[in-house]
Amino acid sequence: MKYHKLVENAGRPQGFWGKMMIKAMNKGHSELTDWALAHIKINRSDTALDVGCGGGKTVSKLCTKIGNGKVFGIDYSQLCVDNSKKLNKNNIICGKASILQASVSSLPFDSNKFDVVTAVETYYFWQDKLNDLKEIYRVMKPGGRLLLVFEMVKSDDEPHKWDSIEKKLGIEAVSRDGIKDILLHAGYQNIRTYTKSENGWLCATAEKEQV
Ligand SMILES: C[S@@+](CC[C@H](N)C(=O)[O-])C[C@H]1O[C@@H](n2cnc3c(N)ncnc32)[C@H](O)[C@@H]1O
Repeated sequence: MKYHKLVENAGRPQGFWGKMMIKAMNKGHSELTDWALAHIKINRSDTALDVGCGGGKTVSKLCTKIGNGKVFGIDYSQLCVDNSKKLNKNNIICGKASILQASVSSLPFDSNKFDVVTAVETYYFWQDKLNDLKEIYRVMKPGGRLLLVFEMVKSDDEPHKWDSIEKKLGIEAVSRDGIKDILLHAGYQNIRTYTKSENGWLCATAEKEQV
């Protein structure tokens, strides 16, 4: 019962079980996020965006890495926005972080704003993945870096690993080639993927064309 209620709230947390899920994600995705963040260059003065920021843990990790830069988080769940704001209270007070309610499909930012964009465990839920990746591309600076992070990865060794979650949530685990392909179609360059075989984790980095 508890597990099912939690899982149901992965895509758009709300209510009591949404709150529980946010707590679980902040804890459960921390190691995955640290592993993935090691694959992307983050400078002290960068402006960064975390898409689908959930409970705000990645925003807080980015704030630690970024010195005099700024970190934005967006999520379409109001509960996530509230929880991210709570977790990042001090960073918000000092002007280092800002959390907004928004969809990845229509980001409330000018074009060419961000040096770095991260998206941890959220891509599966996006309704229009190709256009959503293009929308992220729009807000990235030329030469800006994108990091996509995945735990739900198709595996030849365990082909049915994600069957029940896929069915329950109506989402699909990703493959390395599928992610490379869609990033290429969305216009990204220098696409690289990394896997952690012990856990089956995958992350992809990609860049916006330099002008
Ligand atoms: C599984 S949670 C991951 C949260 C966080 N990134 C983490 O790693 O803990 C997926 C998050 O993506 C958000 N999300 C899903 N689709 C979205 C969309 N189209 N636009 C903005 N946020 C979205 C959900 O509300 C949820 O907070």
